[in-house]
Amino acid sequence: MKRVSFLIVLLLLLTSCSAGKSKSDTDKKQYVIGFSQISAESSWRERNTESVLDAGKKADYKILYKNANQSQAEQIKDVRSFIASRVDLIILTPIVETGWKHVLEEAVAADIPVVINDRLISEEDSHLYQTFVGPNVPIQGIQTADFLKKKFKNVPAPINIVEIQGSKDASPAISRHAGLLEGIKDDTRFQMIASVHGDFMLSKGREAIKNVAKSHDLRQVDVIYCHNDDMTDGVVSYLEETDIKPGKDIIICSVDGQQSAINLLKAGKINCVIECDPNMGEMLFEVVTAVLEGKDVPKENFTTGRIFSEFSELNKIEERGY
Ligand code: AHR
Repeated sequence: MKRVSFLIVLLLLLTSCSAGKSKSDTDKKQYVIGFSQISAESSWRERNTESVLDAGKKADYKILYKNANQSQAEQIKDVRSFIASRVDLIILTPIVETGWKHVLEEAVAADIPVVINDRLISEEDSHLYQTFVGPNVPIQGIQTADFLKKKFKNVPAPINIVEIQGSKDASPAISRHAGLLEGIKDDTRFQMIASVHGDFMLSKGREAIKNVAKSHDLRQVDVIYCHNDDMTDGVVSYLEETDIKPGKDIIICSVDGQQSAINLLKAGKINCVIECDPNMGEMLFEVVTAVLEGKDVPKENFTTGRIFSEFSELNKIEERGY
């Protein structure tokens, strides 16, 4: 009798544990996704990583996360480790545009789909990945040019621009540079007098402008165009140690839209910020799910970005969260 009651209690317990979950829920396979991130070079990147990891968790994927600390060799190793672990899909944020052919061919051979996040790889290797989720970067350079044309309306030539690019060979550095040149090509007043790299990092942005100051008289510079907000923070901190007033004596344009840049914009120390939204996790996992379900997805899925400038209603800008 004792044995029968024990069995009944056990049965009741088992039924109550599975209550609320349908058979299809319990049978559902949990996909494993390998996520290869570049590093934590900027506040933007930190927010992007959080957004991807949070969205993956919310969508019930198991994420294997690797941070390559700014090294392409490390990133290639990380992708190879995902292939060896037979993950279901790989998300790759490529540090630079080129050099991915072999490792991506290995992913194709292993039948593991690859989704590219945030930065692009060379067009010639685009058949090696399924789809891209991220910003439409060339537009950011063109939007900067549009702001400059408005700001310098009726100002005579020359208008001297110094550019602080992101990391060499990284797709946003290439496209932000090309986008600006495209945007100013019909206005010969603008000329780029120096273009250097600052690796998307605050300390290197500061170092970059300090080096430019050794070969150029900054009082002859009208515009500094920084490829991201962390480098802008570095540039402004350097200029504040000189007698040049950032945002007044030199017009400063930036990209990202993180809180530090919005604060500088409100303080009149910079003049324009093109938003590059790092919160792409949700969109990314919608696309990942579609790929895993074998659905057709567009080759490019662009996030959107606004223009914040001294011509905007700055008090309407919400807290940025990064
Ligand atoms: O790839 C996007 C760029 O990388 C962001 O603009 C920058 O902040 C980041 O480090």
